Amino acid sequence: MILCKTVRALQKEIKKVKGTNKTIGLVPTMGALHAGHASLIEAANKENDIVVVSVFVNPTQFGPNEDLDSYPRTLEADCILAEKMGANIVFAPTPSEMYPSRDMTWVEVSGDITKVLCGATRPIHFRGVTTIVAKLFNLTQPERAYFGQKDAQQVQVLTRMVKDLFFQLELRIMPIIREEDGLAKSSRNTYLSKKEHKAGLILYKSLRKAEQLFISGQRDAEKIVEETIQIIQSEPLADIDYVKMYAMPELTPIDGPMKGRNLLALAVKFGKTRLIDNTILEVK
Ligand code: PAJ
Repeated sequence: MILCKTVRALQKEIKKVKGTNKTIGLVPTMGALHAGHASLIEAANKENDIVVVSVFVNPTQFGPNEDLDSYPRTLEADCILAEKMGANIVFAPTPSEMYPSRDMTWVEVSGDITKVLCGATRPIHFRGVTTIVAKLFNLTQPERAYFGQKDAQQVQVLTRMVKDLFFQLELRIMPIIREEDGLAKSSRNTYLSKKEHKAGLILYKSLRKAEQLFISGQRDAEKIVEETIQIIQSEPLADIDYVKMYAMPELTPIDGPMKGRNLLALAVKFGKTRLIDNTILEVK
């Protein structure tokens, strides 16, 4: 496995591959890799000849009072896991490699899709995500890029960007990987105390209950959301940022009974740690 720390070094490696008929799979990450990331790398390895994993804590997607400085950085361990799962190249640039000057080009998706859910409390977040992911797509020119359903809104926003900017690649979306107890794997889980981790399980429980309501015929989105909120509020350590349901793919409000695919998404704070989770409720 090759570790590239500069844009130039990565471009040199990509050029070698592009001269052959080998396919490239890209897995963008912010590092502190866990089983969720590993599942993306594994899938990329199955479906492509060359796997590139980027490890970059992207400053432009963090708000001024967020956890940019404390975000876990574990490059050595990340390289070991990435290689084990089949990565050929790890790209771990510095911020100045990716953002060489203060004046710069932004890639921004407009509309409700970036304003609701996480966009409401993190107004600059998705502009940072689309800008860095567009840069990574241009640098690695992958046939396929791998993202997790854990960040459901991110997936919808990136789908829009790929369509609007005519990126010639396939987005591959992988299921949410959970701890044995049900908590969705996240690099931020390392911030949780034991007590907070235990309290966080209420998210999984509330989503399973929402799924049960839906399966038993409930098609009133508001009722499902209300029930989900009630369950989460039964946990004293849970501080709700949002619990909402929107129609997919554009995350538009649900008018009347639920139809098609709907995203039930939640963000809840436990102490200082904000966790997100979601499920898709599909009327077939
Ligand atoms: P990060 O949070 O490191 O996540 C990298 C990828 O791993 C994302 O596509 C995310 O959805 C996926 N992932 C995280 N936890 C997962 C889980 N439990 N199960 C399945 N997949 C999971 O998302 C980002 O980084 C950044 O916004 C990035 C796209 C890299 C741009 O900076």
